[in-house]
Amino acid sequence: MAQQEEVFKKLIAHCKEYGFVFPSSEIYDGLAAVYDYGQNGVELKNNIKRYWWDAMTMLNDNVVGIDAAIFMHPTTWKASGHVDAFNDPLIDNRDSKKRYRADVLIEELLAKFDDKIEKEVEKAAKRFGETFDEALFRQTNPRVVENREKRDALHARFTKALNDSNLDELKQIIVDYEVVCPISGTKNWTDVRQFNLMFATEIGSTADGAMKIYLRPETAQGIFVNFLNVQKTGRMKIPFGIAQIGKAFRNEIVARQFIFRMREFEQMEMQFFVRPGEEMKWFEYWKQFRLRWHKALGLGDHKYRFHDHDKLAHYANAATDIEFEMPFGFKEVEGIHSRTDFDLGSHEKYSGKNIKYFDPELNESYVPYVIETSIGVDRTFLSIMAAAYDEQTLEGGDSRVVLHLPAVLAPVKVAVLPLVKKDGLPEKAREVMNLLKFDFKAVYDEKDSIGKRYRRQDAVGTPFCVTIDHETLENETVTIRHRDSMQQERVKISELYGIIENEVSLKSLLKKL
Ligand code: GAP
Repeated sequence: MAQQEEVFKKLIAHCKEYGFVFPSSEIYDGLAAVYDYGQNGVELKNNIKRYWWDAMTMLNDNVVGIDAAIFMHPTTWKASGHVDAFNDPLIDNRDSKKRYRADVLIEELLAKFDDKIEKEVEKAAKRFGETFDEALFRQTNPRVVENREKRDALHARFTKALNDSNLDELKQIIVDYEVVCPISGTKNWTDVRQFNLMFATEIGSTADGAMKIYLRPETAQGIFVNFLNVQKTGRMKIPFGIAQIGKAFRNEIVARQFIFRMREFEQMEMQFFVRPGEEMKWFEYWKQFRLRWHKALGLGDHKYRFHDHDKLAHYANAATDIEFEMPFGFKEVEGIHSRTDFDLGSHEKYSGKNIKYFDPELNESYVPYVIETSIGVDRTFLSIMAAAYDEQTLEGGDSRVVLHLPAVLAPVKVAVLPLVKKDGLPEKAREVMNLLKFDFKAVYDEKDSIGKRYRRQDAVGTPFCVTIDHETLENETVTIRHRDSMQQERVKISELYGIIENEVSLKSLLKKL
């Protein structure tokens, strides 16, 4: 774990050094849990969004997109339940004055039991070698059984406390399990309190009577309030979906782990409207579709898992997360929720407008049920960067940091490098740039030795480097270097488009879904 933390620190430093992610307003010492994306970060982010948007709206011809405003009428948030129920249980340590989410502290306790079990299994696997029967060991080893029983007892108590919204019981668990503050090392805890996560501001001048409004904590409500607009103007028939990408804001209590938990972040959400009673079928469908979307990136199938929710949100009758193995353990990247008719029904009630759908096949009107897929752009970004980051020792004792980014998402697809800054090579390299730049994000670099330039491109994950040398002037050929294998081949300039396109095309990624 300590080694993983070390790698994570290096990844954060790398993100800054190579123009992926900067702390917000850094010249003023930054703003907690707010980040800016740099020149490479924004390209990667845009590519992730393009992959999601095309997968959702082009591969599913019954899904269309919108772009709703961040500001919404304040009653939206009353209807959605966020004013009353969008809370986190927080607890303070009186000595360190640090604030924690009580549920997160207890989840960390649960993870400790899981770690103990996995360590026993790993040790035994090493001891017994090929004869090891893992399933039998898990069932019978006394230490594994004891830890599992303790974990399950804690899990049951925790889930009940969450479902009953029993804040005293959450505190009691923290006391009973002798949780200590990682900063002060003491158990001097306050009571657990609820804390609303929405940011409020005012719209209009005070003279006109300013109105308190919220920065949206999820993009989904912009879709719900536009359900009828899209259904009518797009002549949409159920089942159909509405997709949206946009910023969301939450005043997170525990703002840690870099861009994993931010106060301003971006979501890619889709609400899929279905007939009441058919929601579980579609819940399954979208779970599988979304998992395929993640796995198609090739970061490693074993890095993903589903995690069903212990506590269902106020609007859901089923919910699961797609978790990714981050450097700090398996964590949620995407949520898939069966939201029933809660949101549309509630907006109907609060607005007094009829938000029903007339189903011509059934010849009846109803409030549709909704399956939601909700993924964070920033968490996806982090998962991809974490999986891509690699420190390699090369033959001859040399080393390099390389980002094995999926080529289709890489910020820069190709770097064009004249071998030397003279003899007409820069001019020829510019010609090649002008050829490629209409199809691919290409960069030109003539500074430093060719080796240094390759390392710079490796560090930002550029899949191809094209080198222009003296032979190029004679026969219109160049060398093309592949990032992961570092293999170089001599090809005709006229072949470059085909070679690069073959690896970086979004179309071939979409075809895997
Ligand atoms: N509309 C449903 C909804 O918002 P959620 O599970 O609260 O559900 C969905 O959020 C996704 O948004 C999460 O899986 C995560 O990727 C992302 N997300 C949520 N809070 C975030 C935060 N503070 N920072 C970064 N991403 C966040």
